[in-house]
Amino acid sequence: MTSGPSERGEDVGQQLPLMVTAPPGPKSREVAERIAQVECPAFEARRESRAVASGHEQGAIVYARGRGSNVTDVDGNRYVDLTAGFGALAFGYNDVDLSAAVFAQSHKLSMALGDVYAADCKALLLEALAALYPESGARVLLGTSGADAVTAALKTAVLATGKAGVVAFNGSYHGLSHGPLAACGLSRKFRDPFIGQLNQYVKFIDYPGGELTPSIEALRAALGAGDVGAVLIEPMLGRGGCAALAPGFWAAAREACDEVGALLIADEVWTGMARSGWMLMSASMGATPDIVCLGKALGGGWPISATVGRKEVMEAWAKHGGSAIHTSTHAGHPSGVAAALEVIRKLSQQDWPALNRQLGERWMGVLRREVADDVLDIVGSGLMVGVRLKGGSTEALRVSRKLLHDGYIVLTGGVAGDVLTFTPAFNIAEPLLESAARALGRIVRNHAAPRGISGP
Ligand SMILES: Cc1ncc(COP(=O)(O)O)c(C=O)c1O
Repeated sequence: MTSGPSERGEDVGQQLPLMVTAPPGPKSREVAERIAQVECPAFEARRESRAVASGHEQGAIVYARGRGSNVTDVDGNRYVDLTAGFGALAFGYNDVDLSAAVFAQSHKLSMALGDVYAADCKALLLEALAALYPESGARVLLGTSGADAVTAALKTAVLATGKAGVVAFNGSYHGLSHGPLAACGLSRKFRDPFIGQLNQYVKFIDYPGGELTPSIEALRAALGAGDVGAVLIEPMLGRGGCAALAPGFWAAAREACDEVGALLIADEVWTGMARSGWMLMSASMGATPDIVCLGKALGGGWPISATVGRKEVMEAWAKHGGSAIHTSTHAGHPSGVAAALEVIRKLSQQDWPALNRQLGERWMGVLRREVADDVLDIVGSGLMVGVRLKGGSTEALRVSRKLLHDGYIVLTGGVAGDVLTFTPAFNIAEPLLESAARALGRIVRNHAAPRGISGP
């Protein structure tokens, strides 16, 4: 690793936690309360129900500033962020190169005219993204969120195949705007309230994490009627708990899609751009998807996403009467484009996919040493690591809360909400990961009586 926790005291953003008050401190409570008074009440309601279910307070801390892998709350507590902003902060908070690139771009041109008149920097980004795709001639559609990228992929599938059907997977997550929501297999709770507004032609099958033969048979059965235009799949579950795809499934899925003329769409919003240990995890699995969705790490913390597709498939967009039937005000926004270009430049300076793979393996080794006997599973690839706890979601909430008190920010995930998910910045100092593993070890060995709730 390039740097360790600072011994000289300078703030390089790789420091161990420093807690000055129990979180949430008084200032966090005050600001969080003001937010709760005016924000959509769903977020506060979730905190309350989690507190009741787990028996542990879930009050929010409020961030004041960040640097590298450290974030400091308004009370002055310094944390190590092991989520990296839902996986978006590839190079941590306020990376100087990224900030400088966005600053320079915003001084030069703060806004272009989307699909009508582009910013000059957009050409470079489209070329760089098309070059990521394993075959030549790929075409790219830019968006601002991961859900945008998935939406564009699903629309592409309808245009290219004429079929509205989608095969999606239990346990998967693709964002919550209407298109991706219809394919959200993580929990029915997301879909049910809006079911009347969603694509009715989505078939769910189990995420192929176990035996290959039944998984591929289930896919073939779902494709059997010939009405499916898209098979939408994460190469490794993200929110679903960092579970891997059964070896061989990807290539078999490619074959099954080709037989019925369905597109294979890889949702790499989380796995892509080196996080999983591969620039494109799908490309490492022995078959090329028709479309790849990118987001999160692509912008390094700025909102930008991309749908990158095979030439023949993306050409379907040109056959629609000359109108741009898919665009938005901020798609290809110059600041996001500048950030993505800088992320791609930084990723090209070292072999970050390999570095992430190696660091992830070393860290999973440390986790196994510290906690293996006290947890159900340690899974993942690269810097997407899941630790499945004994004691279900109750225990996951307890442990994540205790980690927060020790100064480590983590998320819970998994279909049953029983997984701690770790997606740190690529340049996190290794001693921070090691000390987090030790903190986790201390906490899981000190079990609370599980009260057995389920659901994320
Ligand atoms: C695999 C995957 N796809 C899509 C999305 C949606 O991205 P966004 O929240 O930026 O819309 C997410 C978000 O977590 C994700 O994990």
